[in-house]
Amino acid sequence: MASSVLISDTEPWKDLKAHVADINKTHLRDLMNDVKRSQLMTNEFDGILLDYSRQRATPETLEKLFKLAEAASLKEKINRMFGGEHINSTENRSVLHVALRAPRDAVIQSDGKNVVPDVWEVLDKIQKFSESIRSGSWVGATGKALKDVIAVGIGGSFLGPLFVHTALQTDPEAIETARGRQLHFLANVDPIDVARNIAGLNPETTLVVVVSKTFTTAETMLNARTLREWISSSLGPDAVAKHMVAVSTNLTLVEKFGIDPNNAFAFWDWVGGRYSVCSAVGVLPLSLQYGFSVVEKFLKGASSIDQHFCSTPFEKNIPVLLGLLSLWNVSFLGYPARAILPYSQALEKFAPHIQQVSMESNGKGVSIEGVILPFETGEIDFGEPGTNGQHSFYQLIHQGRVIPCDFIGVVKSQQPVYLKGEVVSNHDELMSNFFAQPDALAYGKHPEQLQKENVPEHLIPHKTFSGNRPSLSILFPSLNAYNIGQLLAIYEHRVAVQGFLWGINSFDQWGVELGKSLATQVRKQLSASRTKGQPIEGFNYSTTTLLKKYLEASSD
Ligand code: F6P
Repeated sequence: MASSVLISDTEPWKDLKAHVADINKTHLRDLMNDVKRSQLMTNEFDGILLDYSRQRATPETLEKLFKLAEAASLKEKINRMFGGEHINSTENRSVLHVALRAPRDAVIQSDGKNVVPDVWEVLDKIQKFSESIRSGSWVGATGKALKDVIAVGIGGSFLGPLFVHTALQTDPEAIETARGRQLHFLANVDPIDVARNIAGLNPETTLVVVVSKTFTTAETMLNARTLREWISSSLGPDAVAKHMVAVSTNLTLVEKFGIDPNNAFAFWDWVGGRYSVCSAVGVLPLSLQYGFSVVEKFLKGASSIDQHFCSTPFEKNIPVLLGLLSLWNVSFLGYPARAILPYSQALEKFAPHIQQVSMESNGKGVSIEGVILPFETGEIDFGEPGTNGQHSFYQLIHQGRVIPCDFIGVVKSQQPVYLKGEVVSNHDELMSNFFAQPDALAYGKHPEQLQKENVPEHLIPHKTFSGNRPSLSILFPSLNAYNIGQLLAIYEHRVAVQGFLWGINSFDQWGVELGKSLATQVRKQLSASRTKGQPIEGFNYSTTTLLKKYLEASSD
């Protein structure tokens, strides 16, 4: 096993460790009085305002974090990623999701080849195909236009597209372009998910897009076979050619499955599953639903952040600042979780997507060289849109555990409502909470304040808020396709920054393999037991008992 200097062995890391004692002497209530500090801890790019003044950090902390970035060779690592080097070393691959949204004339090399023309070849094919479906020039086996699309895929082949679809659903431009069309997602192998997807759908007017990077994922392949059967049993086997298309890096398996390779949309091994929403994985289903021109705006938004990320000094670089602060919270202040709190219902699927992007990327136990880490990496991401979350788990955030929060707000609502006689619009009401919560967390409430309010003595401990709870606020001018692309890329790059700093490989996911292979063993035994009456064996007492119980009870 290779050995190398871990980031935790460097002077800047040790210096930050020591600095925690200084920060522990401060309270956000006092830090927030320092206007100069607050000015320094805000940043604006392309109408996006980032305010991180409610982090438990001072300008000195930031300086120390920048030194850590230097010690971790952060700039070099970012350059290596954009330069197409094989930074995903355990899979010997480049990490080039930025190429998926690069302008047509950009040059991004992987293995000595400019990959941008290949990207645009697929984008052009998607544009042509989606227009033929949307215009009705491509029809189903019985001559009817295909109005419903079911995207079958899981993990990165599902969560990103679902997030973007949900975010666009109430965007005025996207509403217009989606008129009369419906996009559905089938992810879980649970037959309930199949039933829910096909309920009310007619195979005659449905197009199935099978999305799988590997085209081997058990859940996706079984769901794809189930929908193939749904189509062919109703319209005949030849109908599959008209009703099923695929997105994959494995075009051989696509053909083997019975989908015409001409109706397959490629992507490449240098696109990680959880970073694939800007490939055909997201672009095809989203273009079928909203039209290619809307999706192109989404790609442009993501690309604008790519440019910002690779060319802006760290002091003003939004993903870098966010990554450094996350690391500060996790590795130095000891806060293992992060709440993602968008004050926009349109972003309800953002946290689930970031859960995968962040936790599958950074939940690692060894350095990129394979050295066991003496510190924990990754963080526990979760979230809900405000204000729903406020009526759910915010109690814990205010008075229980300290969980750094990302508040994400939008200036102009996608769907403003102004009720006659109401003092504020519905969006102002929502945003009042967006502005209030960070201060409630930062300042808290003293027992003395409660005494002044004549709160009965026995209730004072219950109504006291310690405050000093970190958060940051990101305010977007609006939430259109372009901004949605920006939001996505900010979080993707933040995760990469964290991984680069920790010195891990954020682009592999070996941790998901063990469970998959054990499931294969179980699957074999279940089927042998059902078909040949073979006894369950080779498992421990607990698993054997559970399996027997399951088999007995389900064979009734
Ligand atoms: O969950 C593991 C994983 O490999 C993810 O990284 C990936 O997004 C997902 O499975 C789906 O994989 P595929 O696109 O190959 O079906």
